[in-house]
Amino acid sequence: MCGIVGYIGHREAYPIVLKGLQRLEYRGYDSAGIALFDEGELKLCKTKGKVSDLKEKMESSVDTSGNVGIGHTRWATHGEPNDTNSHPHYSNSGNLVIIHNGIIENYDTLKKELKTRGYTFKSETDTEVLVNLIEDVKQKENVKLGKAVQIALNQTVGAYAIAVFDKNKPDEIVVARLGSPLAIGIGEDEFFVASDASPFIEFTNNAIYLEDGEMAVVRRNKEVKIRKIKDDSLVDPYVHELQMNLEQIEKGGFDHFMLKEIYEQPNAISDTFRGRMLPEKGIIRMAGVDNNIERISNAKRIIIVACGTSWHAGLVAEYIFEELARIPVEVEYASEFRYRNPIISEKDVVIAISQSGETADTMAAIQLAREKGAFVFGVCNVVGSSISRETHAGAYTHAGPEIGVASTKAFTTQITVLTLMALKLAKHMGTISNSDFQMHLQELERIPDKVQKALNSDEHIRKIADIYKDATNCLYLGRGFNFPVALEGALKLKEISYIHAEGYPAAEMKHGPIALIDEQMPVVVIATRKGYYEKVVSNIQEIKSRKGKIIAIVTDGDTEVRELADHVIEVPETMESMSPLLTTIPLQLLSYHIAVMLGKNVDQPRNLAKSVTVE
Ligand code: F6R
Repeated sequence: MCGIVGYIGHREAYPIVLKGLQRLEYRGYDSAGIALFDEGELKLCKTKGKVSDLKEKMESSVDTSGNVGIGHTRWATHGEPNDTNSHPHYSNSGNLVIIHNGIIENYDTLKKELKTRGYTFKSETDTEVLVNLIEDVKQKENVKLGKAVQIALNQTVGAYAIAVFDKNKPDEIVVARLGSPLAIGIGEDEFFVASDASPFIEFTNNAIYLEDGEMAVVRRNKEVKIRKIKDDSLVDPYVHELQMNLEQIEKGGFDHFMLKEIYEQPNAISDTFRGRMLPEKGIIRMAGVDNNIERISNAKRIIIVACGTSWHAGLVAEYIFEELARIPVEVEYASEFRYRNPIISEKDVVIAISQSGETADTMAAIQLAREKGAFVFGVCNVVGSSISRETHAGAYTHAGPEIGVASTKAFTTQITVLTLMALKLAKHMGTISNSDFQMHLQELERIPDKVQKALNSDEHIRKIADIYKDATNCLYLGRGFNFPVALEGALKLKEISYIHAEGYPAAEMKHGPIALIDEQMPVVVIATRKGYYEKVVSNIQEIKSRKGKIIAIVTDGDTEVRELADHVIEVPETMESMSPLLTTIPLQLLSYHIAVMLGKNVDQPRNLAKSVTVE
C-alpha cells in the first residue's frame, strides 16, 4: 500500500503534490518522492523517510516550479526503503517517469527479458521494471504513451495504481488501476490524480473513481477519456460529487482506522499470498524459505517468539506447523524467552513474528537466539524494520500500514504467511500429499471471499454488541486452532473497550473459570463444525445450565448450537486449519462496536502504543 498524487493544470504543482502526500502518509511512510516538469525539464527528488524529509531535501536542492507533478509516499514491498528504491522511477532513457502503488507479480520474468534487450536497473523494485517495459513497448511498437501503457499492463500480473508521465508529451498524465485505488479530481482546466480524494478536496468536489481494469489519459484542458485496459473499449465516466470531509476520506469513509483495517482483510490476505502461490505448478514461492529450505526443514524444533497479537498468531502457527510439517513447535512470549536462559541449539529454527518489526522484547529474543547459533526467520509487516534486518531470512506480510493500535489485519496476514510457510515445508518434507497440498492452496485462494462474507454479519454483530456493551467481564472459549482465536478475541475486547475479558481453551473452563459463570456473564464460544465440534457443544451446554449468556461463532447453516446459544454469528465453512482466518473477524467487529458504543478512543486506546520499542 502506497499513496500516489498527481497534478496537471495552471497552478504550481509542487505545493499541491506535497500537501497531497502529507494527507496520504497514512498509506505508507517509509520513503517519498516527487517529479515536477517545467519548461522542458524533469526535476526529481526522492528520499528514504517521511514526506517532511522529502520537503526539506527538495526545497534545498530542486527548483520546485512547474505545472505538472507526480508524487509518491511508499510502503515498501519490493526492496528495502532507501533513496534508490523510492518512487518516482525513471525509464532508462530518462523520458518516462512513473509512480506505482501495488505489486507486479511477474516482475522478475519481465526484468530478465528486458535485461536481454539491454535495459539496466538501479533499484530492486518491480516499478522500475514496469516503466522500462512501457518504454520498451513504446519504442518497439512506435505508439503513444497511453497505448504503450495499455500494451505493457496487459503483459503484467499483479496489482497497480499508476501514474506515468512522458517529458516529451508534457500535457498528459496516463493513469491506470487494477486492485489499488485511483481517483481523478476534475477542476477547471486542471486535473488531480490520487489514491483517494483527500489531496484535492479543497480544489474540487468532482471526482471519477477508476474501476479495476480501467485506464485514463488525463490531458490539460481536455475531457478525460477512460478505457478498459484489456480491450480498449471506451467507458462512460461517472462523476461523483464528493460529500465527505478530509478525515472521512483518509479513513476511506470508515469512522475509524480499526474498522477500515478490519474491512481491508480480504485484500490484505490476497496481497499476502499474491505471487507466492502457484497452484498450477503445485508450488509456493517464498524466497526467504526457498533459499534456506534445508536449514529450516531439518530443524529439530521451531521456536516462535512474539508479543501480544503476534504471539497469538504464533500459537495458531504451532497447530498449523505441527499438523502439516510435523516439526515440533514451541511458542514463547519474547519477554519471557529472553530472560530465562533458554536451551537453544544450532539445530533450532526461531521464527520471530512482529507487525511493526520494532518490538524491543522480540528484538532481544532474536539477538539471543542468534548468539546461541539458531537460524532466525522473521515475519514482519514493515519492510526494512529492525527485526526484518536482524533476522537471517524472512517473509513480509504485505498487509499495508496498520494505523489502528489494536492489531487486526496484521493477525490474519501473519497466519496467512505462516500457513504458506508450513505448506511449503510440508511439501518439501513429504508430510503432505500432492492432492492435499493442492486442496490447501485452493482453499487459501477462497479465503478472501469467505472473509468478505464473514464481514457481512457486521450489522448483526453491532446489535449483539448493543446488548452486551455494559458487561464488566467476558469469557472467550475455543479449542484447537481456535483456542488462540479465543485469546485474541479477549485481547481485542479488553484493549479497546477496557472490559475485562479472558480467553481459555474451552475444556479448561471446568478447571476454574466455570465458577464465574452466571446470568451476567457473556461467553463467546467458537464452535465451528470442524474441530472438536461435539466437545465444544458439550461445553456450551455446561455454560447454558449455569445461565451464562452464549454468543457462538458457528459454521454457516449450523442448527445444533443455534438451539442452545443466545446468539449465533455465522462464518463460511472452511478447512479447520484456516478457520482462524474467519472466526477472528466477528470477534474483531464485536469488540470494535462495543468500544464505539462505550465512547472509547478505538484507534488510540489509553496506555497503549502501536510499536513497543521499550521493554
Ligand atoms: C494488540 C497489539 C499488540 C501487538 C504487540 C506486538 O492488538 O497490537 O499486542 O500485537 O505489541 O507488536 P508487533 O507485532 O508490532 O511486534
